[in-house]
Amino acid sequence: MAILKLEDGMLLTDLKEIAHELAPLNIQINHWSVGDDPQLQRLLAQDSLNEDEKEQVLKALDNYFEELKQTVGYHSRDLIVLHPGVPNLDGLMAKFDQIHTHADDEVRYIIDGEGVFGFERPDGSQVELTVQKEEYINVPAGTEHWFYLTKLQRIKAVRYFIGTEGWVPQYTNKEIRLRQPAIY
Ligand SMILES: [Fe+2]
Repeated sequence: MAILKLEDGMLLTDLKEIAHELAPLNIQINHWSVGDDPQLQRLLAQDSLNEDEKEQVLKALDNYFEELKQTVGYHSRDLIVLHPGVPNLDGLMAKFDQIHTHADDEVRYIIDGEGVFGFERPDGSQVELTVQKEEYINVPAGTEHWFYLTKLQRIKAVRYFIGTEGWVPQYTNKEIRLRQPAIY
């Protein structure tokens, strides 16, 4: 269940209300079911996945990719799997916990675990959105945002790309005023 934290501390959990708050940024957020395939559920419950297992997970969810290919033109997808056993996890995450933009949309389908996206809205206000399992989010290219893991330090997310060359953070050197995770 997504949770949006506003700068005054208010928390929103209704997806429609959250979408309304994020509308000035053209961010899309949807609930997408992972279904009830027992093999997929088993893989999602594992901490880590080898390359074959990642491919199985991606294939099981490719109906969404096919739709995105046709409607939005995304060309590729991969699966990111993070958990406390990943070497240098803090170092990996440090690239993204400052305000940055990308030349490509940041499109994520969370299929296990959770993470926090922060955004600066056009009026200068900041919000933090905790995204969890079965949530799809599209952050348009050029949107100022940041991202970090919750205390769980665990996420599996399908990433959809137009092109990977846009996948470099451009730092805008703005200060994050909202720092504390929404639900801890
Ligand atoms: Fe990013």
